[in-house]
Amino acid sequence: MTTHHIAVIPGDGIGRETVPAALEVLDAIAGDAFTLRTTEFDWSCARYRRTGAMMPDDGLDVLRGHDAILLGAVGAPGVPDHVSLWGLLIPIRRAFQQYVNLRPVRLFEGVTGPLRPDLAEAIDLVVVRENVEGEYSRIGGRLYEGTEIETAMQESVFTRTGVTRIVDYAFRLAGTRGRGLTSATKSNGIVHTMPFWDQIVAERAAAHPDVPWRQEHIDALCAKLVLAPSGFDVIVGSNLFGDILSDLTAAVAGSIGIAPSANLNPEREFPSMFEPVHGSAPDIAGRGVANPIGTIWSAAMMLEHLGHPEAARRIDTAVAASLADPATRTRDLGGHATTAEATRAVVDALPASPLPGSQPSA
Ligand code: NAD
Ligand code: IPM
Ligand code: MN
Repeated sequence: MTTHHIAVIPGDGIGRETVPAALEVLDAIAGDAFTLRTTEFDWSCARYRRTGAMMPDDGLDVLRGHDAILLGAVGAPGVPDHVSLWGLLIPIRRAFQQYVNLRPVRLFEGVTGPLRPDLAEAIDLVVVRENVEGEYSRIGGRLYEGTEIETAMQESVFTRTGVTRIVDYAFRLAGTRGRGLTSATKSNGIVHTMPFWDQIVAERAAAHPDVPWRQEHIDALCAKLVLAPSGFDVIVGSNLFGDILSDLTAAVAGSIGIAPSANLNPEREFPSMFEPVHGSAPDIAGRGVANPIGTIWSAAMMLEHLGHPEAARRIDTAVAASLADPATRTRDLGGHATTAEATRAVVDALPASPLPGSQPSA
């Protein structure tokens, strides 16, 4: 039996509620094929307040020894976001070269999003977000602080290597899914980095001749994703565009509370990290009402990454069943279920292993 070592960082706010929920589901699913040995770390804004640091100096070295990382969210009122994010989340993504941020979005049966039902029909797409460079750079800052000429600047960094590998990943994924690739851009020359991005997309398209692709300006793309989201399959975008698109698409499919993400190091040289798309939601934290599905689905993506696609599918099936029942939907989806009730519904809906119709492995 395989044992996977998982670093668990609940973080702040609702991360402390949704990560235990995901662990409950993982506990229920681990069994004959694999076990998970989890180690929990209290790295968070609470730790920052106590010690002055979000994580210990050797935090990244500690994580390096794990097979995967499961994270809730970081960020708390009173601690500036740049402190919590540059002190934990962003260093993990970068140190471990998690340059692919995979963010699937699906409209589940029974879930009514904010769109007219005829517009929302059959949403099933994946945002492939570049995750380690682009607009999220440390080059820049504040000049002449507190004066009339105070100025904030930031350099975007787009490298040929960085753009090529994310675009290639997206083309390969689009090739397996079959409905084509959309590149999010702003190529009208105002943003200097985007013609470069477009050039590389066009070059890589030549290497994937079987995959239909198109590019859309980010502003128009946002409108199309609201008006006709089912027309999209794989969408590749830079760090900032991908960030914005993933909240937008999650919301049109019902709620950002169900959206998962996988921060992948495709070469598997370093651990990958799995976390919901949403943040620490201080407005609802501590009340037991957060939707746990984003973190539970992220945990399923972790199992897929660790080589257990059948276990991941069992969780997917249970998530779909729990969402189909209005009694076990949380408030963000118009229901009344608590985090605990929604989690229990997923655990109770886990199909037996192996899934009906699947072949027993030799
Ligand atoms: P947010 O995602 O935390 O919340 C946005 C809105 O969505 C809120 O109204 C919240 O109540 C709701 N929401 C989010 N997740 C939900 C869930 N699971 N169930 C029900 N409702 C949910 O975004 P924000 O308000 O922009 O940020 C709050 C804090 O989280 C900030 O400190 C921010 O920096 C941080 N943040 C962290 C991460 C991360 O760690 N990966 C991601 C995004 C934001
Ligand atoms: C996300 C978050 C983060 C990001 C923030 C909190 C830095 O919004 O994971 O989507 O923009 O990457
Ligand atoms: Mn985001």
